[in-house]
Amino acid sequence: MSFDTIITGGTVVNADKSEKADVAISGEKIVKVGRNIAKTNGDAARVIDAKGCYVIPGAIDVHVHLALPFCGTTSSDDYNSGTKAAARGGVTTVIDFAIPYGEESLHDAVENWMRKADGIACVDYAFHVAVTKWDRHKDEMADMVKKGLPTFKQFMIYEREGWQSDDRAMFGCLEKCKELDGMLLVHAESPRVLDELIARRHNDADMKKYGAQLHGFTRPNFIEAEAIQRAVKWAEVTGGKLYIVHMSTADGTDIIQDAHKRGLSNVFAETCVQYLVLDDRKFAEPDGHLYACCPQIKKKPDQERIWKGIKKDTVCVVSTDTCSFTREQKAMWEGDFTKIPMGLPGLETLVPLVYTHGVLKERFNMRTLVEKCCAAPARIMGFGERKGAIKKGYDADIAIIHPKKKIKVDHATMETNTDWSPYQGWNLAGFSRTTLSRGKVIVDDYKFCGENGWGKFQPRKSPGKR
Ligand code: URP
Ligand code: ZN
Ligand code: ZN
Repeated sequence: MSFDTIITGGTVVNADKSEKADVAISGEKIVKVGRNIAKTNGDAARVIDAKGCYVIPGAIDVHVHLALPFCGTTSSDDYNSGTKAAARGGVTTVIDFAIPYGEESLHDAVENWMRKADGIACVDYAFHVAVTKWDRHKDEMADMVKKGLPTFKQFMIYEREGWQSDDRAMFGCLEKCKELDGMLLVHAESPRVLDELIARRHNDADMKKYGAQLHGFTRPNFIEAEAIQRAVKWAEVTGGKLYIVHMSTADGTDIIQDAHKRGLSNVFAETCVQYLVLDDRKFAEPDGHLYACCPQIKKKPDQERIWKGIKKDTVCVVSTDTCSFTREQKAMWEGDFTKIPMGLPGLETLVPLVYTHGVLKERFNMRTLVEKCCAAPARIMGFGERKGAIKKGYDADIAIIHPKKKIKVDHATMETNTDWSPYQGWNLAGFSRTTLSRGKVIVDDYKFCGENGWGKFQPRKSPGKR
């Protein structure tokens, strides 16, 4: 038998098992995983030597914003640069958020986002659909699910952007998700108290004295905790599946753990890698405003609590919330912390950061990395038995990672479209030496070599599987 590609001699890591094995690929699919395939099963057009390396499923970043109009500008990574960055980082699928603007319908929003990606994306993509106007959008949800878009998003904040949902909307949306076999993703921050705390510090004297630190001062942990607590209560009483995005606090992690202890298997929580490796002392630095994202990076004890939550499965997914802005865009703040375009680049460094700070620091093993960045994202977001594992029949989405080779992060040499990096100068292992997307090599020797438009929309169903 001949294959298109055989990856030989590596350690294949799935969430449930790690083994020395070869991987045979025909067309876009993995057709065989086992020992000595190359020797006993004939030839292949291409043999990729993975000796001494990990061979992992392509990561799935379930939380990205590419070319997002936000905070008076548009995030600087679009489907071209963003998905090239993804490929270099070993990420082979991204899920963005299709957000309706003004009076747009959910269908309009999805069409807009399809247009941003189609013919441009270099890795596969899918969308969560933001329900920003409950009464207007609720009757479209069934159609979204039918089209392979079963995950919805509501924001408890962002009134200024026209995205905010209240409790009535969240309650209704969770009920609807239960009815439709969908799942609701929630940005949980308590809006009215947050508004009040911002108003108290939004004055010239404070802004002159504290600058970007006010972004952190005005969002104490209880802002996230109260909101998560409330969302969990609505999930408990409706039975709807709830997924808390970008959880950033120890307090939030405790609440989710408590929910699980009470048997609420319909509640999920994700964190983003910046909450694991950056802390709010950054805001006091001269370029502190660059680090503003929402929710903001928190404190060391929060980091440690979330790392533990990952290990114990309180936190089921690590994503990035990629929402890049250049220095020029960030400069729009002009000293006013309420005007900083909020968000950080992330796709290119997700796996390297989790590998370097999670696996190499022995916080958990390689299988846990695969669970949090590949398998759980696939299972929870409804990709079915297609992505997130290196098994027969799955898409040949693969990243080959050298266990020791470190690369110094330098924005100037990265695919990410920013002129700065939160991780500039950090030495990280875990970049993808070779990335395959549905059988096609898109990164070779750490360099992008894929094709614009190779990435395809991936329909999903039945999210929220444990
Ligand atoms: O700072 C962030 N996270 N920007 C994107 C919007 C969001 O809340 O995810
Ligand atoms: Zn958010
Ligand atoms: Zn986001």
